[in-house]
Amino acid sequence: MVLIAPSILSADFSVLGEEIKRVEEAGADLLHLDVMDGLFVQNISFGLPVIESICGRTRVPLDIHLMISEPEKLIERFLSFKPEFLSFHVEATKKQDELIELIKSNNVKAGIAVNALTPVKEVLAFLDSVDMVLVMSVNAGFGGQKFLEESIQKIRELNELKEERGLNFELEVDGGINELNARKVIDGGATILVSGSTIFKSKNLIETISKLRNPNFKGGI
Ligand code: DX5
Ligand code: ZN
Repeated sequence: MVLIAPSILSADFSVLGEEIKRVEEAGADLLHLDVMDGLFVQNISFGLPVIESICGRTRVPLDIHLMISEPEKLIERFLSFKPEFLSFHVEATKKQDELIELIKSNNVKAGIAVNALTPVKEVLAFLDSVDMVLVMSVNAGFGGQKFLEESIQKIRELNELKEERGLNFELEVDGGINELNARKVIDGGATILVSGSTIFKSKNLIETISKLRNPNFKGGI
């Protein structure tokens, strides 16, 4: 069964607590938090004080996705929130091994994120040590973009490598996921689906989350 991680980037920040409660009650498995610095991506979202406010107020485990340059400068601060997963971008640092080790030594699951235009070969060296590979299926930086079809090939390639090497990292797919494309993403090997706009725009959250989790679901629960 795949896990569903609503991204609060598409939530109404003026009532963030209520938005989180809504997805929590609708069965979210993880709460995906997109941290952007305006350097690594052309957007600024939210950072440490906002996560501090969320932390401990929800029973949904946190899935922090850092889209920041040189994550090594702030990683300890994010680790202090004890998220379930902490991911940084392979393109954002030269200290990938050091960061993976540090994250794991804090009993947090380490994720390496790969942007839409970055080839799989860039993460090959880290597949044995990470707990998660986060495949961006849009260009990192904004919610509400169209799913890039080329991502399917990347997901399949990573899934094949995972099977060949007998690894068990999670394969998280992030960007443009909806009820229509969830099936092929899951069939490609995704184990966690991130969804921002599809979930937060939904009028029936329980049904939308169920349909993303099991795209053959016909509704009506
Ligand atoms: C984009 C973020 C995503 C984004 C997904 O850089 O990493 O997590 O919130 O939003 P949707 O599902 O709307 O593409
Ligand atoms: Zn994300």
